[in-house]
Amino acid sequence: MNIPTPTAKPQAGGWPAPTGLPGLPDEATLARLAGEFFRALPGSPVPASTPVPAPSFTSPAASSLSSGEPAVPALQASPAPPASPPGTEGDWRAPEFGVPEAYAAALPTVAPISSPAGVPGSPYYFLSEATAQTNAQQLPASPPGATENHIVAHPFELPGDVALRRVLGELAGERTEQPARAPHPSTGDSRFYFIDLPSAIPNQADASRFPAFDVHAVRRDFPILGERVNGKPLVWFDNAATTQKPQAVIERLVQFYQHENSNIHRAAHELAARSTDAYEAARGKVARFLGASSAEEIIFVRGATEAINLVAKTWGRQNIGEGDEIVVSLLEHHANIVPWQQLAKESGAHIRVIPVDDKGQILLEEYQHLLNDRTRLVAISQVSNALGTVTPVKEIIDLAHRAGARVLVDGAQSVSHMRVNVQALDADFFVFSGHKVFAPTGIGVVYGKRDLLETMPPWQGGGNMIADVTFERTLYQGVPARFEAGTGNIADAAGLGAAIDYVQRIGIENIARYEHDLLTYATQRVSPIPGIRLIGTADDKASVLSFILAGYRTEEVGSALNEEGIAVRAGHHCAQPILRRFGVEATVRPSLAFYNTCEEVDLLVSVLQRLARGKGRPVS
Ligand code: ALA
Repeated sequence: MNIPTPTAKPQAGGWPAPTGLPGLPDEATLARLAGEFFRALPGSPVPASTPVPAPSFTSPAASSLSSGEPAVPALQASPAPPASPPGTEGDWRAPEFGVPEAYAAALPTVAPISSPAGVPGSPYYFLSEATAQTNAQQLPASPPGATENHIVAHPFELPGDVALRRVLGELAGERTEQPARAPHPSTGDSRFYFIDLPSAIPNQADASRFPAFDVHAVRRDFPILGERVNGKPLVWFDNAATTQKPQAVIERLVQFYQHENSNIHRAAHELAARSTDAYEAARGKVARFLGASSAEEIIFVRGATEAINLVAKTWGRQNIGEGDEIVVSLLEHHANIVPWQQLAKESGAHIRVIPVDDKGQILLEEYQHLLNDRTRLVAISQVSNALGTVTPVKEIIDLAHRAGARVLVDGAQSVSHMRVNVQALDADFFVFSGHKVFAPTGIGVVYGKRDLLETMPPWQGGGNMIADVTFERTLYQGVPARFEAGTGNIADAAGLGAAIDYVQRIGIENIARYEHDLLTYATQRVSPIPGIRLIGTADDKASVLSFILAGYRTEEVGSALNEEGIAVRAGHHCAQPILRRFGVEATVRPSLAFYNTCEEVDLLVSVLQRLARGKGRPVS
């Protein structure tokens, strides 16, 4: 596997190497300056005499969250350097800082904007509108692509969860005392990262019970977070569409293809045994992750969409007939609407829709009125992909069961943000996609209660799902193989297992707590921007901050954000009914994960503020 290195060579969307350009230092000077630059980075205890090699990518064995999987060979784009401690220049995680070495070396020394006393003002390159003006004269001729938004030094310190709680505490205090004041520092006021106001910390007692969440350590595990887009550090706020992959997952795929690749179950050779072990081990990990009672309740599919289609075309066809009713909510993704519509059309059943209130919350009373003795199935998302609403699935399931109906929970947007236990929920079916929980694309899961799966017919026929075939009849395998016709996505199943291991090493509760605080922070920063209307303001939300901005089409906002390296989804999010409930056809949807930071939120806010001030191109 060849991971691109952050060289200073010409690249699409980047700029040519400054080496050799008129007015810039020679290579030796650049190398020395680059060495000083990398030694100045946080967590880089490199002796001054250490030469700086070209960046190489080695496996993150030193990561505090490195894989517990069997050791795999290092990924190398160049001859292996000596093992390096985390954060040194030979370590693959160094590109997190995302500054081409030569370009970084050519930058002049820029004083930190306002480092508090005692805080090192180490260089972390972020945009800052206000300071871009101030520092404009000091900058060298900007490389192509960086002329409009000068890159300036910004103090490098981002809060972990404890600090984030302090920040939120201060924001809450400021709101009470000075409601009109903008709470933060896109002006370069960095004091808020270093607040020491213990009395203002909300839930301080709670916070102190948990270990600090180190977002820096997490970010170093995701190599893509060191990418640059349009010359700017990538800010990945499109996590509801797909999540990025930690090195442990990437390496798991490499390991599979280097050491285990074979079809499963079908051969009497060593590699078939290895790949079968990998595939079935992943099934076991998924079962434990979901709290299933056995691995045989886990069926591998391509993703949540295929999972719902499987249930509709097997259990659905078998159990839903004319006049029966299928209840879905107004929040659903098209994947949890269309398969049921198709089933209703072929069977003569009816779809009933649970409404939501003006915040985007399920109206439980209305739901109860929808349930009756014709209700066969309730299909409900645990978290809305378009609004972020967390639905009361436990109550929904209990009420459905009392009415004699089965429940399918769409967990595509929930499993990466909260603990799920299908037995505690008493869900009949639960589905999710691997790629939304840091695993590869093309692998997903149906959980089904074993007694239900046992009664369901297969939906696809072929190899792997049969016990015996003659031209007169076919005997099928038991569960789950009966539902896995053909060669499955073996490598990506192993990748899903590695992603689950990774999430569990960090701790889903730690993730949930950090993301909750980050979403609160983002909501408090975005909502006061003039012209912003949040779409979906449920009391219980996860990850998603959908909005529209007056005077701009959503794609214009998305495109302005992209120019600054910020990835969001702008559109209908495959959930048109719920957006129309709010009178819109599309929203801008930043969606957060546990590797996002306050500083990334601040960058988003600064772009939105600029648009709101009318500097962008309004809709004509
Ligand atoms: N379901 C994905 C989303 O919400 C694609 O963006």
